[in-house]
Amino acid sequence: MALNTLESVKLASTLLKQGKLVAIPTETVYGLAADASQTAAIQEIFIAKGRPNNHPLIVHLANVSQIWDWGKQLSQESIKDIECLAEHFWPGPLTIIMKKADWVPDIITGGQDTVAIRIPNHPLTLDLLGTLPNGLVAPSANRFGRISPTTPAHVHKELGDKVAYILDGGPCTIGLESTIVNLSGEQPVILRPGMISHEQLSAALNKPVLFINKDSTIRAPGVLDSHYAPNTAFYRISDNDITTAELINELEAVLPDSKIALIGHVALENRNENAPITYRSLSHHPEAFSQNFYSTLHELDEAEFDSIFCHLDEKLISQDIRWLSVLDRLQKAAHHDITLHQIKLIMLT
Ligand code: TXA
Ligand code: MG
Repeated sequence: MALNTLESVKLASTLLKQGKLVAIPTETVYGLAADASQTAAIQEIFIAKGRPNNHPLIVHLANVSQIWDWGKQLSQESIKDIECLAEHFWPGPLTIIMKKADWVPDIITGGQDTVAIRIPNHPLTLDLLGTLPNGLVAPSANRFGRISPTTPAHVHKELGDKVAYILDGGPCTIGLESTIVNLSGEQPVILRPGMISHEQLSAALNKPVLFINKDSTIRAPGVLDSHYAPNTAFYRISDNDITTAELINELEAVLPDSKIALIGHVALENRNENAPITYRSLSHHPEAFSQNFYSTLHELDEAEFDSIFCHLDEKLISQDIRWLSVLDRLQKAAHHDITLHQIKLIMLT
């Protein structure tokens, strides 16, 4: 018999206190959680994900009042900035990096002198965190380098045998990982773009917020080539002078015998269900697109296409800063950009 939400949160809490791993829902993606005070349980996260030990983890908390258990209070200005962003955006899809309190162990920080904190905005997980005064460390609940899960079924597919329990909170409403902002340095820097934009952060802090510089020594997410990637070969088609409908016609002509999927944002009417190319339209709106992006990649990856392509309208996406996080994940998930001309050349050789 299915548990009600109260019972399921209680079960998740009991298992976490016993040092087991539990998958938790958040508004961004599902996390693979362990009690943040249990080193042996945290070690299991790295084993389950196949993740290198020096990758730091995000600490998830229930209340803003817990920040200073984890972070070090340095200058008045840094305290003010951290509390300002916490006030504005938590619970929500924002992770703040701050200087760590002396006791915080290397297994959480990857040996760095900083710690990442977030209060997620999901009612079940907030209830769960309310029962766990030490907080939870939780990376995304996927195997290392793969696409993050946005439904319990994705978690089950990725890590089913490695979690004691999956707390079912339905599909994630945002669908892409949180914005990460580093407040431990001289100036605020975004290490990973997300739904909370650089402009929103800058307006709240009333100061400029920078983007990460590629030469930085900070261990930022996704610096490895293949991050968030499906198994199927995945390419972004970079032609801007052709509509998605025209592109589909061209691809059907060039690749008549291949099993191809294409992700775009224009809705194509009267498309035949049995057409050779499977087309998924994910919306003109960055938020709706983000919400469905990973789940579409999971679904297409399962269906074993020869290749998956993505074609976006450059003009549309350059108009709204919220596309930045989609483009960031697309860049990490796709092997590389390709043009129709290059596809034709490959087919000729
Ligand atoms: O939306 C999210 O942030 C999700 C949900 C579950 O909360 N979590 C998530 O965790 O995406 P993960 O581990 O997949 O990505 C967090 C990234 C890591 O890649 C790590 O590099 C970075 O945060 N990070 C954590 N602590 C850090 C630190 N002290 N300094 C720099 N980067 C850090
Ligand atoms: Mg991740």
